[in-house]
This record gives sequence, C-alpha cells and structure tokens, in this order.
Amino acid sequence: MAKIIKVGKKNSQYDVVIARNAITKTISSAIKSYNKILIVTDDGLPKKYLAEIKKLIPKSKKVYIYILPAGEKSKSIKSFNLILENLASLKFDRTDCLIALGGGMVGDITGFVASTYLRGIDFIQIPTTLLSQVDSSIGGKTGINISQGKNLVGAFYNPKKVFISLSYLQTLSDKEYKSGLGEVIKYAFILNKKLHKILKSNTGLVLSRDLKILEEIVYAHVKISRSSFLRMNLSMERGRY
Ligand SMILES: NC(=O)c1ccc[n+]([C@@H]2O[C@H](COP(=O)([O-])OP(=O)(O)OC[C@H]3O[C@@H](n4cnc5c(N)ncnc54)[C@H](O)[C@@H]3O)[C@@H](O)[C@H]2O)c1
Repeated sequence: MAKIIKVGKKNSQYDVVIARNAITKTISSAIKSYNKILIVTDDGLPKKYLAEIKKLIPKSKKVYIYILPAGEKSKSIKSFNLILENLASLKFDRTDCLIALGGGMVGDITGFVASTYLRGIDFIQIPTTLLSQVDSSIGGKTGINISQGKNLVGAFYNPKKVFISLSYLQTLSDKEYKSGLGEVIKYAFILNKKLHKILKSNTGLVLSRDLKILEEIVYAHVKISRSSFLRMNLSMERGRY
C-alpha cells in the first residue's frame, strides 16, 4: 500500500506518494488535466523507467521527451535555455506540465524551468536516486549552477506531486546509493532518534537495499525533510530566510 505524506502549505500543498512502485495508474489521474507533457530525464537512467511511464500515460496526451547528459554539468544555464526553447517551440502553455524523471540534477533543473517558463507552469517529480527521494524532491528548492558556484541561481517552487518508487533504488550504483545513505545517516544522527534506530538495527538489510527497510527509511526521512521545510517556510514568512 502506498504511503502519502502532505508537504507544503495551503495552495501549494502537495502529496508525496511513497511505494515500492508508485508509478501505477495513479499517474494518469495526476496528469489528467494537462494537455501536453514534457518528460525531462538523463541518459544515465535505465531506459525501462522512461518506457514504463510512457506506457501509463493515456494516448490522448501529447508526450515529449528531453534527455540531458547525466552529471552535474547538465545543471547549467545552457541546458536551462535549451529546455525553455524546446517548450516554446512545442507551444507549451499553462495547461501543460513537466515531469522530472531522475535524480537531484534532473529534479533541480526541471523545477527551475517550470518555475520560470510563462512565469510558472506545473511540474511533477519522479525522483530515482536515494538522495533525491529523501531530500531534493522535498521542499521546493530548484536551481542550476553557474561558473561562480553550485545552486547560485534558482527559485523556491513546489511540484504538484512527488511519486517515490523504492524499486528504482535497486539499479543505483553503489557509489550513488552510499552517497544518499550518507545524507540519511547525517539526518538520523542530528535530527531523528527513530531513523537512527532503524538504521542501527538493520545494517545488513539497509546495505542489501531491502525494499521494506527502504520504505521505512524514506518515509521517516521525508517526514523530517517536510518538518524542516515547514520551519523554513515559517522563517521566510517572518523575513528570516
Ligand atoms: N533541491 C534540493 O533541495 C537539493 C538537495 C540536495 C541535493 N540537490 C542537488 O541534487 C543533485 C545531486 O543529485 P543526485 O545525487 O540524485 O545525483 P544525480 O541526479 O546527478 O544522479 C546521479 C547518477 O545516477 C544516475 N541515476 C539516477 N537514478 C538512477 C537509477 N534509479 N538507477 C541507476 N542510475 C540512476 C543518473 O543518471 C546519474 O548518472 C545536485 O545537483 C545537488 O545540488 C538538491
């Protein structure tokens, strides 16, 4: 059964759906009001993920794909500009939507494009790395890098929905999995005893990427990220951020 966590406030509140496979028929209801869809992804992802999503999108929708080269270099002004030009030449308007399928790199740049094209169109996040599932897809931080530094240009802009499929984590390289795990461990030590306990008592299962344990970890972490996001929102309202 999918778990759903509500993130954000009032009009910009959205559901984060967490399941072993969250990309089921529910995706068709999330996109039913849109006419055209541009899926932004990168070439490091197993091809089957894109194919699975395309299969679930009703034939009545026009679906376009934009594939970035994998890696941080793609989170650039150049890619940002190319995606915007692509949207404009396809005549995307506010009845249309973007889908970010990938890790934090794809999520950040797609969210930033969505926040700026026509002063904001809808986007959906489908995070596929551990880091993006527990952190970068939650909280609405979008952006790109410039030569002076990482994430120097960006916007706070919430997605309409986040679909977290834990099964995506099975194909992640050890390096990427451990990088996400590092983030989880950091949060567990600093902020959350429950998450710390889950990690400590299930080391073997965590390392073997057991889906049940991953579900517990991601669920607990998204709840922590959501609370930090709420605190940040309050601080922004009070002019402290
Ligand atoms: N917005 C935020 O709040 C926030 C928070 C933390 C990090 N970030 C950003 O996130 C980015 C890093 O994200 P990341 O760690 O997810 O890396 P990434 O997006 O660069 O992905 C890493 C690699 O994993 C591959 N990949 C993705 N999903 C896969 C899967 N399921 N199976 C196999 N391969 C897969 C990608 O193709 C890529 O080669 C940075 O740009 C960072 O600034 C943003």
